[in-house]
Amino acid sequence: MLDTPHPYPVINGPRVIERHQSMAAIGATGRGGVNRQALSAEDTQARRLLLSWCSARGYASEIDPIGNLFIRRIGKRPDLPPVMTGSHLDSQPTGGNYDGVFGVLAGLEALESIDDAGLETERSIELVVWMNEEGSRFAPPTMGSAVSAGSMSLETALGVVDVEGISVREALDGQLAALKGVGRRPLGSTGHAYVEAHIEQGPVLEAERQKIGIVTGIQGICSLEVDITGFEAHAGTTPSRSRQDAFVAAMVLLERLRSELHDPEDVLRFTVGRFNVLPGSPNTVPGHVTFTIDLRHPGADHMQRCCETIRKLASGTIERCAVSSRLLLRSDPVQFAPWIAEEIRLAAARHGAPHRIMISGATHDSRYASCKMPTGMLFIPCEKGISHNEAEKVCPDDLTIGAQVLSDAVCALAQTAK
Ligand code: GLV
Ligand code: MN
Ligand code: MN
Repeated sequence: MLDTPHPYPVINGPRVIERHQSMAAIGATGRGGVNRQALSAEDTQARRLLLSWCSARGYASEIDPIGNLFIRRIGKRPDLPPVMTGSHLDSQPTGGNYDGVFGVLAGLEALESIDDAGLETERSIELVVWMNEEGSRFAPPTMGSAVSAGSMSLETALGVVDVEGISVREALDGQLAALKGVGRRPLGSTGHAYVEAHIEQGPVLEAERQKIGIVTGIQGICSLEVDITGFEAHAGTTPSRSRQDAFVAAMVLLERLRSELHDPEDVLRFTVGRFNVLPGSPNTVPGHVTFTIDLRHPGADHMQRCCETIRKLASGTIERCAVSSRLLLRSDPVQFAPWIAEEIRLAAARHGAPHRIMISGATHDSRYASCKMPTGMLFIPCEKGISHNEAEKVCPDDLTIGAQVLSDAVCALAQTAK
């Protein structure tokens, strides 16, 4: 157990670990990970479990029109903007047990440990569970926070459909019906500050034996969908010269993009994570291909240039097929508030946790929270940096230290009335 001087409550490490185990059972794949994609029955079940813990404490809960969930522990001055903390409970289709979950459960632990210490904070503290951070079922990622910040319109988000044609609107209606007793609030919630805890999802902290990453910002992301239309034809009879093979066109385009975007410094991140070939029959020349591109870079100008290159190359005609692209999300790199980073640094130092400054390679809802209020993030190490993988693992001691540092930072921020 960590030794915490007054007035910072000591968190209950075994409780946070146990709660991770309970969450891991929801949507468990049987291979060590979870499939709890946004607005699925499993996502709803995870939210219900969280709400059961929160209502046992008497915390009030509200949900906004895009499905972001807010749980409030009232402070002495409910008139002041609250301190917010949280993350997400939705997962990748083959997701791990910590991505997002850690930030939500460490946030809940902050509220509960403050309760257990009998402490009254000046400001209220709100735990936020953002809707659809992952963007795997409904693209793009960080949808709930982007809508909350006004960076994506509510109507656009509600109209997004999954591969089965189910819209966010329909899936959200289903979840709302299952979350009875949760109040409603309008879009655009904001606060005095937002602090999010997350696993690093990269190898740096572990390699350097650091326990806390003080995150100063997030690199930019550009997410696109490419559409290629050719002509379906018989695989056995159609000569190559007259084919309009959408798959061949996709290969040619991807080869051009690989060479144009080649980065000898290995800073640029380029991923084709979804690739659909239609009609998907072994003996029909593909008439239609769609694929996604996820592009990341810490420099806004470079990101912009790469994005323009993709838009230019993914247009017109390739191998007699029509090529076009659609921008799903473009978000520039962001810088977080230095004074929140300092609060995290002080908390890490108080607990003797080795720490370092870093930027985030992954995107997070804190990216959009930072449009609305001063924001900060802390990372804890994860084994070999593996994430977006069922093998994702976190050492229990690291999880406990991270939850304690978050709790201290949230507590400190909630005690300042100015
Ligand atoms: C979040 O899951 C990301 O794609 O960075
Ligand atoms: Mn995440
Ligand atoms: Mn993720």
